[in-house]
Amino acid sequence: MRLTFINGSPRGSKSNTAKVMDYFIQGFLETPGNSCEIQFITRHRGDLNALAGIFSAAERVLIGFPLYIDAMPGSVKEFFESLTPLAGRCRNIELGFVIQCGFPETHQNRFAERYCEKLARRLGCCYMGSIVKGGLEGMAIQPKFLTDKYEYFFHALGLEFGKSGKLDPVLLEKLSRPEHIRQEDLANLIPFINKALWDDQLEKNGVLDRSFDRPLEP
Ligand SMILES: Cc1cc2nc3c(=O)[nH]c(=O)nc-3n(C[C@H](O)[C@H](O)[C@H](O)COP(=O)(O)O)c2cc1C
Repeated sequence: MRLTFINGSPRGSKSNTAKVMDYFIQGFLETPGNSCEIQFITRHRGDLNALAGIFSAAERVLIGFPLYIDAMPGSVKEFFESLTPLAGRCRNIELGFVIQCGFPETHQNRFAERYCEKLARRLGCCYMGSIVKGGLEGMAIQPKFLTDKYEYFFHALGLEFGKSGKLDPVLLEKLSRPEHIRQEDLANLIPFINKALWDDQLEKNGVLDRSFDRPLEP
């Protein structure tokens, strides 16, 4: 089986998208005969038509990107628009997406997921589904018990996909948890996130006491 993975993160090879998809691809390649080509949208920004050409010649494609302000990054939207001439002509391509974001609730990604499903239909592709996950902000500094989970599920999804060509719905559902966070849990979570992501860095730089400064206020 031949897979083309298109990474749409503006952070390219250093992105969270790349990190989690490395686990997926490792699992995918465990089936003998499978191969994977990785493309980065950032490296094609001067000529997105070349990437559209790679897309149109592919068999199975996964396009991965983070949420930037509730939607796909501008460079990903630009790539999608470059596929316009292919509308209705991609019957031989199986297309899926990897959509992840920083905030913990996976639900935030569901609107972009619906857009992606519609895009696949309009291109005439067979839609394979989407891997959707919240909570990846600051992945590099998250505790190991959280990142182990990403490694396990992305690897397992890739392994299954490598054997069957399908995204396992049970694994997709388990990975996506929590879909929503209850208000009472949020009250405990927010101070934890503030400390781990922001306050620790402010403290390291000796400016924690200035975290509420408003330098631009007249
Ligand atoms: C400009 C910008 C906008 C973002 N907007 C959102 C957002 O609307 N919702 C969210 O949950 N995370 C948001 N994030 C966090 C990213 O989605 C998150 O860190 C993601 O894992 C980054 O993936 P990447 O490293 O593959 O680019 C934003 C990050 C940046 C830099």
